[in-house]
Amino acid sequence: MQFKDQFRKKLSSAKKLVFFTGAGISAESGIATFRGADGIWNKMRPEELASFSAFMKNPNLIWEWYQHRREIIHKVEPNAGHKAIAELEKYYDVIVVTQNVDNLHKRAGSTKIFELHGNIERNFCIACHTFVSEKQFEGNEVPQCEKCGGMIRPDVVWFGENLPQDQFSGGETAAEWSDICFVVGTSAVVYPAAYIPQSAKRAGSYLVEINIEPTELSRFVDYSIIGKAGDVLPKILKLISQK
Ligand code: OAD
Ligand code: ZN
Repeated sequence: MQFKDQFRKKLSSAKKLVFFTGAGISAESGIATFRGADGIWNKMRPEELASFSAFMKNPNLIWEWYQHRREIIHKVEPNAGHKAIAELEKYYDVIVVTQNVDNLHKRAGSTKIFELHGNIERNFCIACHTFVSEKQFEGNEVPQCEKCGGMIRPDVVWFGENLPQDQFSGGETAAEWSDICFVVGTSAVVYPAAYIPQSAKRAGSYLVEINIEPTELSRFVDYSIIGKAGDVLPKILKLISQK
């Protein structure tokens, strides 16, 4: 793969990188994406599984679905794409701004991560808001809060809910701070998350998209690289580490 000269020059002068990531970066780990041919939202309606009213209507069903997704996530490993991003911390200031809830960036070793849509490993009580961290629950029934008996839900952003304000503003500030903002494996159609690359560009960051196909954002970026995240990112790392 031959990267264009302008991009290679940017890489040699850049100090601060942001990776804005979506489900596509975890696809090669074996986690299904939301949209596209095999996408989760082709088979199930998001508002029936990923909304607070769905949870209140049928808490055990929703809990079971998240337990199932957790099981999948625990079985898989971060892939070459996640690992390359973590490895780039040796050469740059790197901040990851992810829409994913799968925790794979952290497991790959990235140290600065903003999580726009929460993290499936965390849970909290809907009544008293006590966090129940990284706790493994057995079975498929909604657990009860040890403090108040309220229902425990996963700490993920559901349809109709606000993004965690500190994570979004942290992510946006990082995007504006970056010299290069990589947009990896996202269809970039879900707002407000999709404002992040736009803010980066407006602030003068060089926008690079890595995706297996063109997206809504492709016309807007400085450089669109068509390829798998797990192929392209290690090649970028190689370019830098061999200098
Ligand atoms: P999508 O499923 O919408 O998009 C995944 C993108 O990854 C698509 O553009 C694919 O072309 C691309 N892709 C697939 N495999 C790839 C690979 N190996 N390398 C590079 N790119 C690849 O997922 P998101 O954009 O993350 O929201 O979706 C955004 C949000 O919508 C999610 O965070 C979730 C969902 O509803 C919440 O849970 C709140
Ligand atoms: Zn409680």
